[in-house]
Amino acid sequence: MKITIRLIVSLIFIVALVAVGFSFYEVRAEKMRMTADLQRRAIILAKSLQESVVPLVQSNSLQKLNRLVERFGNRERLEGVAVYDQQGNVLALTPDLALKIPQPLPLAVKSVAENQPVGSLMRIDDKETYFYALPFSEEDKITGTLVLFHDASYIGVRLEEIWKNNLLRFVILSTLIALITLLAIRWSITGPIARVAEWMRELRMGRGKMGQSVVSPRGDVLAPLISEVTHLAKNLAMAHAKKEDEAKLRLRTESVWTAGKLKEHIRAELSGNKIFLVSNREPYMHIRERSSIKCIVPAGGLVTALDPVMRVCEGVWIANGSGYADRDVVDGNDKLRVPPEDPAYTLKRVWLTKEEENGYYYGFSNEGLWPLCHITHTRPLFHLEDWIQYQRTNEKFAETLFKEIENEESPLILIQDYHFALLPMLIKSKRPDARVSLFWHIPWPNPESYGICPWREEILIGMLGANILSFHIQFHCNNFLDTVDRFLESKVDWEQFSITRGGHTTLVKPFPISVDFNGGTLSKAAATQERASIKEKLFREIGAHAKYMGVGVDRIDYTKGIPERFTAIERFLEKYPEFGGEFTFVELGAPSRTHIKRYRDLTTEVEEMVDRINWRFHTKTWVPIVFLKGHHSHKEIYPFYKVADICMVTSLHDGMNLVAKEFVSSRDDEDGVLILSQFTGASRELKDAVIVNPYDIEGMADAIFLSLKMTPDERSERMKRMREVVKEHNIYRWAGDLITALARLRLTETIEQQSE
Ligand code: G6P
Repeated sequence: MKITIRLIVSLIFIVALVAVGFSFYEVRAEKMRMTADLQRRAIILAKSLQESVVPLVQSNSLQKLNRLVERFGNRERLEGVAVYDQQGNVLALTPDLALKIPQPLPLAVKSVAENQPVGSLMRIDDKETYFYALPFSEEDKITGTLVLFHDASYIGVRLEEIWKNNLLRFVILSTLIALITLLAIRWSITGPIARVAEWMRELRMGRGKMGQSVVSPRGDVLAPLISEVTHLAKNLAMAHAKKEDEAKLRLRTESVWTAGKLKEHIRAELSGNKIFLVSNREPYMHIRERSSIKCIVPAGGLVTALDPVMRVCEGVWIANGSGYADRDVVDGNDKLRVPPEDPAYTLKRVWLTKEEENGYYYGFSNEGLWPLCHITHTRPLFHLEDWIQYQRTNEKFAETLFKEIENEESPLILIQDYHFALLPMLIKSKRPDARVSLFWHIPWPNPESYGICPWREEILIGMLGANILSFHIQFHCNNFLDTVDRFLESKVDWEQFSITRGGHTTLVKPFPISVDFNGGTLSKAAATQERASIKEKLFREIGAHAKYMGVGVDRIDYTKGIPERFTAIERFLEKYPEFGGEFTFVELGAPSRTHIKRYRDLTTEVEEMVDRINWRFHTKTWVPIVFLKGHHSHKEIYPFYKVADICMVTSLHDGMNLVAKEFVSSRDDEDGVLILSQFTGASRELKDAVIVNPYDIEGMADAIFLSLKMTPDERSERMKRMREVVKEHNIYRWAGDLITALARLRLTETIEQQSE
């Protein structure tokens, strides 16, 4: 666009220059022509008038002279007539001009003195006037001069008209030039470039027809380029096909799951069928920043884990559109392709009313189920209105999903989390052929704790609509089986870990979720050097400086044990004062669910704690805690993971906690220590972390000390082992295992139904 504007502006500038030049020339010529014309008329008139004037001057008949002058004044364009004697004194003058003409009139005097006719334009009474003086003589002696005054203002009017006409011509010409340039550029430059770019993008994403050329606009300037690119694409196609064959071979033998392996696996397992994922939180959210729209990735483990899976699976992700600018970027079906920079799957947004958002999301999900499932001593709140909205919203999502799957046979549906406990049964009652899994990302409590929920049976029945119900760890599966055993009439099979109710069986299985492990190990020396400079840069950016850096990355949620973590840091500095000035902890905290009072109170509590601890220990050049409150993109968080000496995950209760796994996965230098709460799902897998009880402040303070004092060898050994675990049990394996289990389950169900 910039180029188009530049081109148009330059063209218009040139046209303007030419137009002004020509107009100037035209105006000048016209002025000369009209003045000459006027002069000619003045000469003729003056000569004929002189014949009558001279005898009257000679006979000194001034009265007659004045009558003559009066008679001739004010004719057509003749404004007036004057007669002067040889001294330049006025003998007769048209009365209307009497007051307007200065006396003596210098040009009249000049004409007599030089015995020459004088003609010139002059302004009289602010009016353009043509003055012509013709001297007359008697016996070779100058006796006076006859002066005619012609109105010449029509010359100015005519010249103005020329300017105006030329300006109009210029405006029309410029508009045409702008339009034609715009169309020409669109037609033969930007249009073809956009088509070539789109075609190349399709090729890059493996969807385009490699050997095929993009349609080339006739005789286009880009034709040679397109032909070259087509050539390149053909080569690429061949290389790609070869690579795919090799990859297929490799994937069959490869033990570590990768995006490629998952893609192949899904292709084989689902024979081209799509995957439908339902969650409350959307993977990409559009917000307004100043006057532009920005796309952000919301904080939280669910999105971190599932976006890489969906990129591979090319399905439809149905979620609540909660960004302020979300509606501005969807198509007529409330859909858009994501990720924006490299679209790989479809996001379908569901809009909620204020009442629904309040009751279903803030109320029942986050003030009821969230504290019910997390044992953190925050009292769950259950309100009938919230429960009604929760049911309605589950139905709303079910309706949206039904439309998406109406033409799909046995669609595979992955429901996420506690926002949709009722959805599995809603789906199954209308689409028994659907293969439904519900993944509960948060812990499941014991039956006693769960039993306080007024709608405990309804929730369990809703969940049992799923074919597979999964938690992160076996312990939560056991809690669930116990809970169903306690509250529902059903058959709980502790050998198969399944529940059968009304002829429908639900498998209850652990599937520990994970992250996309980006392998690759830097050479240690290079990594250490790089780390030191990044660390220094980060410290500079946040206005702090220390030898050791600790990092915490959380949504500001009471389950994450943030106050406990800060208390432990305070205790650590009390107990080990030699670390004063040496250790700074950076907390990257994303505000979350701030409409809920408990969350707002927590934010205030955390801020006050930071303030108090910093005030207590700070020096001129050092603070113990830097609290960076705000939404941080993965790109912003990653450098902190990469250089931190310790990462602290101190959840009071957590289904898995993917911050722990992200930290491990980012440490390709095989360094850094993870301090991990024993109440996270992750602690079951990352046994080489320094495991802590977040309620034990003394123990956590010692853990910080131990971690900072740990020998490089031990750090490296531990990190290596943890990296092996995350690499092996990455998100692609999680998805592969879950999808396989779900896809193969269909056969079992059919057999079961047939035998009934
Ligand atoms: C947890 C939940 C997710 C949720 C995330 C962020 O990880 O298990 O379902 O998306 O927190 O919370 P939010 O309420 O912002 O979606």
